[in-house]
Amino acid sequence: MIDLHCHILPGLDDGPVNLDFSVAMARAAAEEGTQVMVATPHVRDDYRVEADDIDRAVAQINEAIASLGLQLMVVGGAEVSLPKAAELPEETLGRLCLGSGDYILVESPYRSSDIDLEGIISGVQERGLRPVLAHPERCPIFQRDPDRLVRLVNSGVLCSVTSGSLSGRFGSTVRAFTIELFSDGLVHDVASDAHDHLHRPPHLLPGFDAAEADIPGIREQASWFTVTAPVAILAGRPLPPSPDPPPRPPVSRWRRIVDRL
Ligand SMILES: [Fe+2]
Repeated sequence: MIDLHCHILPGLDDGPVNLDFSVAMARAAAEEGTQVMVATPHVRDDYRVEADDIDRAVAQINEAIASLGLQLMVVGGAEVSLPKAAELPEETLGRLCLGSGDYILVESPYRSSDIDLEGIISGVQERGLRPVLAHPERCPIFQRDPDRLVRLVNSGVLCSVTSGSLSGRFGSTVRAFTIELFSDGLVHDVASDAHDHLHRPPHLLPGFDAAEADIPGIREQASWFTVTAPVAILAGRPLPPSPDPPPRPPVSRWRRIVDRL
């Protein structure tokens, strides 16, 4: 599997504080069957990480992984905030892309206050890059107005959801919205967004397992979201055809009552 979004580099952001903790994450990922992790440290005002820092740290963790014989490779990337995506020059943004392609991971905002999402994203596209939105399911703006996300996807934006969103780690609202996004065919990748090996570990499959009861068949599609799509993203190629969205879960009696109010 390929984990497209992971804070594995030591000492750069709110991920592991040192190389030992980074290696513990690598070990946990390899044990679950992940073979490639994309290191995506925050690039935003509170973490002023530069492309050179990422390159150096990727080389350092790969050396440590190789010395332990783990079947895992770390490649470079970043999770770029919207303000940084608007502000950074084209050349810098190009160095922050996922793997060797032209897809760039852009952090969905956590606040409900509005921001010129569409303007910034189209600015990134005009600079020749392809935005992948990190965890849009956790973004209050999209929860309130899913059509804004639909329009972005129609403009070529991809959505990478967090595996933990499917298992309820971020609450029932996020979980329900994540399932809606799968049913609407708006998900293109599932990543761990891991920050350590204990509390936010680099696991991908438990989310699919946890969602299987609500969207039967999703577990069988896991390989498309964790192998097929991320392989294309890392190579900078268009995504292959996606599997049919799983059937929408039946609307609960409680939800019907709420909708009528
Ligand atoms: Fe992240």
